[in-house]
Amino acid sequence: MIPLSIPHLSGNELKYVTECIETGWVSSAGSYVTKFEEMVAKWAGCKYGIAASSGTSGLHLAMHMLGIEHGDIVLVPNITFIASANAVAYTNATPVFIDIDPETWQMDLDLLEEWLDENNSPSVKAVMPVHVLGNMCDMEKLLDIAYRHGLRVIEDSTEALGSYYKGKSAGSFGEMNVFSFNGNKIITTGGGGVIVTNDEAHAKRAKHLSTQSKVDPETYFHDEIGFNYRLVNVLAAIGVAQMEQLPSFILKKKEIDAFYRTNLKDVGDIRFQKVEDNVDPNCWLFTFQSSQQVEILKALKENEIIARPFWYPMNQLPMFKENIYHHHSDYSRRIHANCLSIPSSVNLGESELTKVVEVIKNCF
Ligand SMILES: Cc1ncc(COP(=O)(O)O)c(C=O)c1O
Repeated sequence: MIPLSIPHLSGNELKYVTECIETGWVSSAGSYVTKFEEMVAKWAGCKYGIAASSGTSGLHLAMHMLGIEHGDIVLVPNITFIASANAVAYTNATPVFIDIDPETWQMDLDLLEEWLDENNSPSVKAVMPVHVLGNMCDMEKLLDIAYRHGLRVIEDSTEALGSYYKGKSAGSFGEMNVFSFNGNKIITTGGGGVIVTNDEAHAKRAKHLSTQSKVDPETYFHDEIGFNYRLVNVLAAIGVAQMEQLPSFILKKKEIDAFYRTNLKDVGDIRFQKVEDNVDPNCWLFTFQSSQQVEILKALKENEIIARPFWYPMNQLPMFKENIYHHHSDYSRRIHANCLSIPSSVNLGESELTKVVEVIKNCF
């Protein structure tokens, strides 16, 4: 079987985890948590990192901390993983969905601006760009739109550790931004996330809120409603070992991307995700479009190769189908119907990549 995107635990993971177990430091206090936070923040070019139990809890905490609440609106791309929209919904605010650019598959910024020009009001509070598959939209343009319309920016950078726009790291543009380290991401802690920010007050409050808002380590005095959202030391230990390998993982992901782009070029009606010149993506998960999506998926499955269609567009899901979805041509529907993600794990060998390509070619 050739998996889709699995962890590669080939460094110091076992050594660091063993140390946690031998010393008893397995819970949320422990030096690996701090070290992991520092490593991720440094990589993202931010001053502070606050570890969270998942990317989802990190996004929720960021929303909560920015005071997003019932009656507020947050703008989210219509093609994203469900957690982006859920993080807004957890605060009882309403996500408004913006269609994506048909080439880059990121939020269409002209549609974003158009919607804001016609609908902006004090209740429209924030915009959440999602760096889908590690690609990025024109972040300067997004920040300019957000500034002119008085919106806060929270990047869903969950898939984009190691991606850059004009040399600046994903996760360094918004006020509070979040990375995910679940099992399929470019590096993993099994499950986990890190919020990054340059704002010291945000960093302190995020740490406080994520540890039940406990004021003092000895007494049970809590000064506001908090959350149990901290990452534990034993998982942060895995994260530190994975961060040590991140540069080599990014190189390998880029090699996989280049292999597929070379070998699937001009095959049937296959088309690739467009990456603008000013974006240097981490190439996390290779995904292409073809009208033969269903047939290719079936053929790959028959050959024990794991592939996945893209996420359902948010406006097609039962809990969000009444929400506003701003579009002209509903590209989300087409992208969902045509896109397919194929094996991209860093430990894939050339023979496995060749097999994937051969099975796909035989579908045409
Ligand atoms: C775009 C996007 N947003 C949010 C998340 C949530 O991250 P996690 O699975 O760590 O909760 C993920 C990853 O699963 C994601 O891909």
